[in-house]
Amino acid sequence: MNQNMTPFLDALKKYIDEEVSPFDVPGHHMGNADNLFKDYVGELTYMCDVNAPRGLDNLNHPSGVIDEAQKLMAECYHADEAFFLINGTSSGIMAMIMATVKAHEEIILPRNCHKSVINALVLSGAIPVFVMPEFDKNLEISNQPTVEDYIEKMDKHPNAKAIFVINPTYFGATNDLKRLALEAHKRGMLALADEAHGAHLSFQDALPIAAMDANFDLSAVSMHKTGGALTQASVLLRKGNGVTHYDVFKALMVINTTSPSNLLIASLDSARHYLYFNGNEKLTEVIKMGNDARKRINCIPGFKARGREYFIDQGSYAYDCTKLVIELESLTINGFELYNILKDEYNVQMELAEQYVVLAILAIGTKQEHLDNLVNALSDISKKYYVEKRSYPKYQYDSPFPKMVMRPRVAYQAPVKRVNLDDAIGLISKESIMIYPPGIPLIIPGEVFDQNIIDRIKQYKKTKATVLMDYDDLTVSVVDYEQYLENRDNVEDRFDD
Ligand SMILES: Cc1ncc(COP(=O)(O)O)c(C=O)c1O
Repeated sequence: MNQNMTPFLDALKKYIDEEVSPFDVPGHHMGNADNLFKDYVGELTYMCDVNAPRGLDNLNHPSGVIDEAQKLMAECYHADEAFFLINGTSSGIMAMIMATVKAHEEIILPRNCHKSVINALVLSGAIPVFVMPEFDKNLEISNQPTVEDYIEKMDKHPNAKAIFVINPTYFGATNDLKRLALEAHKRGMLALADEAHGAHLSFQDALPIAAMDANFDLSAVSMHKTGGALTQASVLLRKGNGVTHYDVFKALMVINTTSPSNLLIASLDSARHYLYFNGNEKLTEVIKMGNDARKRINCIPGFKARGREYFIDQGSYAYDCTKLVIELESLTINGFELYNILKDEYNVQMELAEQYVVLAILAIGTKQEHLDNLVNALSDISKKYYVEKRSYPKYQYDSPFPKMVMRPRVAYQAPVKRVNLDDAIGLISKESIMIYPPGIPLIIPGEVFDQNIIDRIKQYKKTKATVLMDYDDLTVSVVDYEQYLENRDNVEDRFDD
């Protein structure tokens, strides 16, 4: 195929040039209504915001320019098929799991997955078989489970329908994808990938392998995170005969809006074009800038820029070095405070913070001058907050995740009781609680509150991080187990792993 083509973008431009008389939605009719946002961003943005007029195809039934653009995307990522997503990788993950794992069927997945995976379990009714990630006690972050742990779960749960792998994690850790796909396929299981943070992996050889190149069956990729598309624009990739077009299509029909944004679709078409022709060169430059920044940061007292060697040491198979992980050391501030200080006092916006670490995402838009600003800010902050020989109360949590006793869908649908967090020990959660970003739930529907998780939630609430939970007053939603038991049929739905 000719990757130089941008069929959807071209059709959109042509439609705008035609100066049609619009009587379809959206009712601003190509920017003909007054609007302060339009004044700010410019009329052209509104002109591009057309719905599904003739000539622009239909995302829910593509047979024209969207179909062509999706085929180019598939080829670019070495997939057999690509489905554009306009509600983020979250929607791709939900469709992927709904398409492959039905209620009461098992899926093997790492517990440090994103909330969209948990929501997919609620929607599909699947039974999660969690494989625990290696936990870095130094940074207090979860990395990848070992291949051996995956294999052990596959052998123990031979009827599982699929394994699910995060490639890479938010912090850049990756797994041996080729081997995992091989082991899964050998047992008749599917290999599914969350590549929310991996849109760039296919375009530079120094980066870890992408899921399609490792023969995964499906992968959801956030083109909007590191691929250069507009926010919410993602793609679901399919390869091989393990999953049919029909299965994915049917699931997407449940999830997708009937009014997809053409701004997002055009941004997918042109992001693919850019990556295909410029990705390699740009990412080579970005990797070099990142390595230089790491060297400079490592000379600043109080900070350690962690990279490939560190993560390989921690058990990662390979490492995505476009993630700039900065560890705090001997400072009188924690990661959350550093995150806020960087923005409030130095106008530097990081991706996320944890207790002892902040994360910068380097991507095709990264500029040297912005990296200089970050390094200079850290240098200044070091002068203010570095105290030699100060040590942190590290290694607080041995087991970061609570025990699951109920299928997430059953817990989600069970009768609710609202209790104080402190009184929740031993009770089954009905909610997912997480800090965002990264959006990895501390507890999910079906897991039991223990002291460890209660302490962690309380500690996060003290920081200025956004803690997503049902209520803001340290009460939580739990399963009203007495009421739940009144329906005798329910008893079978509780299990102890
Ligand atoms: C690991 C992971 N998976 C999935 C998602 C969901 O992606 P999206 O924001 O494109 O819906 C995210 C978002 O942060 C993520 O971090």
